[in-house]
Amino acid sequence: MPIKAVLFDAYGTLLDVHSAMAAHAARIGPDWPAISAEWRAKQLEYTWISALTGQHRDFWDITQDSLRVVAARHGCADPMLLTDVAWSYRALAAYPEVTGVLTALRARGLATAILSNGEPAMLADAVRAAGLTDLLDDVLSIESARIFKPAPQVYALATTRFACAAADILFVSSNPWDAYGAALFGCQVAWVNRASGPVEYGLDQLAHRISDLTGLETLM
Ligand code: LAC
Repeated sequence: MPIKAVLFDAYGTLLDVHSAMAAHAARIGPDWPAISAEWRAKQLEYTWISALTGQHRDFWDITQDSLRVVAARHGCADPMLLTDVAWSYRALAAYPEVTGVLTALRARGLATAILSNGEPAMLADAVRAAGLTDLLDDVLSIESARIFKPAPQVYALATTRFACAAADILFVSSNPWDAYGAALFGCQVAWVNRASGPVEYGLDQLAHRISDLTGLETLM
């Protein structure tokens, strides 16, 4: 099916969320990968609770608050370290294939954009730090809808921005629940199963499955 625009989830899909703690691994200790995974899970929990209760908080607030809670669980309350880790989240490493894949998609004449839970300023920082500014037509934040993924209003931001039908959009996410939300909205979806996790949400039927972003080339 023809594609008008390729929309990417940011955190975990283009950007390695674990690179924030990795940057401070020596200060955190050898458990940092588990703590980082727990932080990500708590961060997402807060987005869903925010959406379900209607008590909206932005993703930067949620990112810092979830870090504080998870760090405390692990006996870490060093405010300097927590500040450093949180600020590293605004300058996450892009996965190695990102620049090449975005360049290739744009060479095909496709529009490329981010559609993320991120708050606009933190997304702007992250895009700049990863060197992606010139490779994206737009960076869409859920703050325009004031509700987190996978609420359908979020995916509608993409169809409004590109003035197209949901089916004209290829939505790319490594988060299974996000891929599912986009598929329910009617987008074409690529699930980037970087961790080779088991199929969830019927994504074997609803989405193309790729192991990293280079797999997008085979879908074009
Ligand atoms: C995002 C989160 C869900 O970028 O990864 O929207």
